Amino acid sequence: MRSVSAFSLIAAAIGSAARLPRVSRQGDGNSTIECPPIPAPYPTWEQLPKQPSLPDPFLPLAYTTPDNAEDVIAGRGEGRVQTPEEWYQCRRPEIIQLLQEYQYGYYPDPAEETVEATRSGNTLNIAVTAGGKRGSFRATIQLPSGASESNPAPVVINIGGMQNQPYLGAGIAVAQFDYTSVAPDSNAKTGAFWSIYNGRDIGVLTAWAWGFHRTLDAINMTVPEIDATRVGVTGCSRLGKAALAAGLFDERITLTMPMSSGVQGAGPYRYYALSGQGENLENSKQGAGWWTNSKLGTFVNHAEYLPYDAHTIAAAIAPRALVIDQGEGDQFTNSKGTAIVIYPAAKVVYDWLGASENIAISVRRGGHCDLSGFSSILPYVQKVFFGTPTNVDYNDLGSYGSPMATAFPWATAVPEA
Ligand SMILES: *[C@@H]1O[C@H](CO)[C@@H](O)[C@H](O)[C@H]1NC(C)=O
Ligand SMILES: *[C@@H]1O[C@H](CO)[C@@H](O)[C@H](O)[C@H]1NC(C)=O
Repeated sequence: MRSVSAFSLIAAAIGSAARLPRVSRQGDGNSTIECPPIPAPYPTWEQLPKQPSLPDPFLPLAYTTPDNAEDVIAGRGEGRVQTPEEWYQCRRPEIIQLLQEYQYGYYPDPAEETVEATRSGNTLNIAVTAGGKRGSFRATIQLPSGASESNPAPVVINIGGMQNQPYLGAGIAVAQFDYTSVAPDSNAKTGAFWSIYNGRDIGVLTAWAWGFHRTLDAINMTVPEIDATRVGVTGCSRLGKAALAAGLFDERITLTMPMSSGVQGAGPYRYYALSGQGENLENSKQGAGWWTNSKLGTFVNHAEYLPYDAHTIAAAIAPRALVIDQGEGDQFTNSKGTAIVIYPAAKVVYDWLGASENIAISVRRGGHCDLSGFSSILPYVQKVFFGTPTNVDYNDLGSYGSPMATAFPWATAVPEA
């Protein structure tokens, strides 16, 4: 049974969704942009349109209503974002808000935290205090030869292990932390993050993302041999989901590198059956509900009502660089769907923002979390960090062929930027 939403009533009362009152937000410099209001409270699944294809990233949540579902799906919804400025001032902040509401839980305010770090050789001791509580963990670094204060190296922060040698050989530092010391991969509320934030409805992916960011704080404070303005984040599988969240929530991350990440990473909630064996909202929420907040659980069996999908997360990272790794032998994380549905849909937004070069995919041979993924993406990483040209085609969808355009029908009606 569909309940009538307070929100539709408001929309009905003012006659047309296109006439929603707009809220002024300060743009860069002196420009004031009118943004649609973010619905409060947020609509429940029953108050949202069912969208079997990927939701239109250009359509604000306030206009994502069930009464005009066909238009919403097709990219004909009223109130779509028209300019990159509107995207950056209105829609992108809204996406980051709604992803916290529906999926991640609310990322803690860094302005309320004090970070202390000390370095002992290649070990960083990191302590964070907020609201009178304290949590601490350690990170380790490996520096490439030649890195110095006058010639600092870019860094990739990884959790869960990566192919370090090719990166060190390419002049890239590698940092890592034990993610379980930040938050365990379970419902247990131990570790640095929960020492401070226990009691909040936040997913563990967000806690791990926080670990990346506090590690970067510590690097910036104590490791002059690393250039804290050239930073990659990576991890594989559930840790790839965390790497995507780390790229989303902190604009200091230059390059986001989710490996074999699946649902709640770069894999779609919709189209999970494309590779025949898909991770989806239901089995991820059942198997590891702690990765995300409790609100996401209300969409179980209703994933097509989610007002976003993985392409929306990727698009909110633009214009910063994103490279997605998937293996052709990895059905479970839906490599095919990631390649032919999510990647091209996110690229529509990157293209529109004039950042085409900053999104990349690497479809390699091999299975889930095959370490060869790290050497496959290395030329792209070198391009981002050093400007080194590469001949590798990072739009190649491998054996999956070409994009599945029916999955993002709104792409034929991209606003004229
Ligand atoms: C903002 O407005 C002031 C006064 O009109 C002007 O001097 C200044 O250049 C403007 N700044 C920007 C970024 O447009
Ligand atoms: C590094 O720390 C300085 C001083 O607090 C700060 O201004 C800068 O934004 C920090 N950079 C990064 C990448 O965190």
